[in-house]
Amino acid sequence: MNSILTPRLLKIAEMVPAGSKVIDVGSDHAYVPIYLALEKKILCALATDVHEGPLRRATENILCYGLSDVIGTRKADGLSGVDTTGFDTVIIAGMGGVLISDILSAAGETDGKTFILQPMTGIRELREYLTCNNYIITEEGIVQEEEKLYTVIKAEKGKDIPYTEAELVLGRKNKSEPLYPLLRAQILKKLIKKLSGKQKAKNQDADEIQAIKNLIEEMEK
Ligand SMILES: C[S@@+](CC[C@H](N)C(=O)[O-])C[C@H]1O[C@@H](n2cnc3c(N)ncnc32)[C@H](O)[C@@H]1O
Repeated sequence: MNSILTPRLLKIAEMVPAGSKVIDVGSDHAYVPIYLALEKKILCALATDVHEGPLRRATENILCYGLSDVIGTRKADGLSGVDTTGFDTVIIAGMGGVLISDILSAAGETDGKTFILQPMTGIRELREYLTCNNYIITEEGIVQEEEKLYTVIKAEKGKDIPYTEAELVLGRKNKSEPLYPLLRAQILKKLIKKLSGKQKAKNQDADEIQAIKNLIEEMEK
């Protein structure tokens, strides 16, 4: 099982606290809860998905590994209609950061739960949502699959010092990650290209250009 978990999925699994009761929202293949159950790292799990096809895939894989007594399945849009009582860890992975924020926003009470979030896009927007909505980011990981870098965020309810724009873009809790310098270099390269494009444009937005310059300066510190 370990071998079929990609580095991205393995990082998510590693960040789940041992002894958890897990809800995996948008589970699709359900590989993460299956791996966690096989490793005996979790007590039980609920794999959910909003679509029939992925939910069927999850159910088949769970059956195939003989784990139906440990992992349940449920068709659900985010956490709506899911009774989260008794579950302490929620994984929401492989979706856009804005969709993850929307799922959290519609989730109701989330006190005392640990969230493992893996946004494919909109990472800045997810950090902004979390830090502006009484979540504290406690840990971040960076993993690489081929050329692409993936961010995994661990968060829980709490108060944090406000994030600067550079911290929203880059992260604050990932600075000691081995891949942090590569992530920073990739984002800086994109920003420098964006700045150059804006500076060449006919109708220049001076405020936007200055904001990009400020961000680059803060990131280069
Ligand atoms: C790209 S897959 C990611 C699967 C797995 N979590 C991973 O990280 O590899 C995204 C899954 O999220 C499901 N999904 C999308 N929106 C959802 C929502 N609002 N609630 C639950 N599941 C959702 C999709 O049906 C799909 O199976």
